[in-house]
Amino acid sequence: MHNLLITGGAGFIGSNFVEYLFNRYPDYRVVVYDKLTYAGRLENLERFQSHHHFTFVQGDIADPDTLGKTIEIYAIDTLVNFAAETHVDRSIMAPDAFIHTDVHGTYVLLEAVKAYQLERALFVSTDEVYGHIPHGMSSVEDDALKPRSPYAASKAGGEHLVYAYHITYNLPVIVTRGTNNIGPYQYPEKAVPLFITNAIDDIPLPIYGDGRQMRDYQYVMDHCEGIDVALHHGHFGEAYNIGSGVETENMVMAHAILDLLGKPHSLIQHVTDRAGHDRRYSVKTDKISTLGWQSQHTFEEAIEKTVRWYVGNQDWWRPLKSGEYLDYYRKQYVERGSGSLTA
Ligand code: NAD
Ligand code: DAU
Repeated sequence: MHNLLITGGAGFIGSNFVEYLFNRYPDYRVVVYDKLTYAGRLENLERFQSHHHFTFVQGDIADPDTLGKTIEIYAIDTLVNFAAETHVDRSIMAPDAFIHTDVHGTYVLLEAVKAYQLERALFVSTDEVYGHIPHGMSSVEDDALKPRSPYAASKAGGEHLVYAYHITYNLPVIVTRGTNNIGPYQYPEKAVPLFITNAIDDIPLPIYGDGRQMRDYQYVMDHCEGIDVALHHGHFGEAYNIGSGVETENMVMAHAILDLLGKPHSLIQHVTDRAGHDRRYSVKTDKISTLGWQSQHTFEEAIEKTVRWYVGNQDWWRPLKSGEYLDYYRKQYVERGSGSLTA
């Protein structure tokens, strides 16, 4: 493993993973291959541009020609795929791009792993593939996948292809299923960065329904470390859950953000719930723990670091809250008769 192709590396987790790799493995050569959708930002990669082991290529994972050329030119031996459409609310509005990238794109990547005989490939997936998990239960990797949103279904579809290619063609592939990530460089459409950036500007925080839904909010670098452990020590054809094991209700998360920023709880605004909203996810992480991984951050540490980053990096997120973002925000919140764009 020496020449890594990081697809979707201009996004939130992918760009943090590049940082993780350069810190941990200074000898690795990293090629980020990314379509640069609204969520993929060259700004996220600025800090690597002068690194002599770093290259960026703009391309779609569903475009076999550009993908194949990139693999050949840079003698890629390892793939880690982060490329995906990732926002559940957008998948409810317009599922098409999710099928294109998360299903068809995964198929094109698998064909490339086969054609170029890569040493190994890791596909980053999500705990959402298990669907809603009732209280008292937690998902293990062999559980049936029961996705309930177009996003989760497209990720599960991609996963099924990964497993099928392992069985049928003996491909050296691994899957990870992470819980909700928080930390630097997350596009401010996701709940945590949306709430932090709204709160900084005294704009209401739109909480879906009663806000009693549970998520496992893990710090992004913990997730990156888990992906690294699965990449280096995981078994081909296996999936690995990665999460902190701590469940937090959305209302508790929102209160924590407001308290850290010294803002009033009256900024919370209950709005129409998400269609088909999964109220709870919960994963067991014993399998990745046996490979030597452990979560390093408590929820309190993770949310505090995240809030601090958004307070200190307003030049990163303020320009994002314009143009396409405002169109999306209007459709998602204001046109539904809820949420507000102003203080
Ligand atoms: P993100 O939306 O921040 O970034 C996605 C990246 O993929 C962007 O850079 C985008 O330009 C790129 N991309 C999209 N379509 C592409 C295509 N067709 N070809 C090439 N590049 C394309 O996403 P993220 O939050 O960093 O998530 C990364 C991966 O981790 C995804 O596969 C997601 O399903 C998974 N995941 C995310 C979380 C989370 O909480 N964010 C949790 C578990 C798993
Ligand atoms: O579980 C892993 C998944 O976590 C990833 O696979 C997805 O890519 C990632 O987007 C995330 O999905 P969620 O739907 O859980 O994340 P989101 O930040 O959109 O929402 C978190 C919770 O907050 C969820 O219960 C919905 C709620 N929410 C979200 C938004 C955007 C609100 O109450 N208000 C909001 O405005």
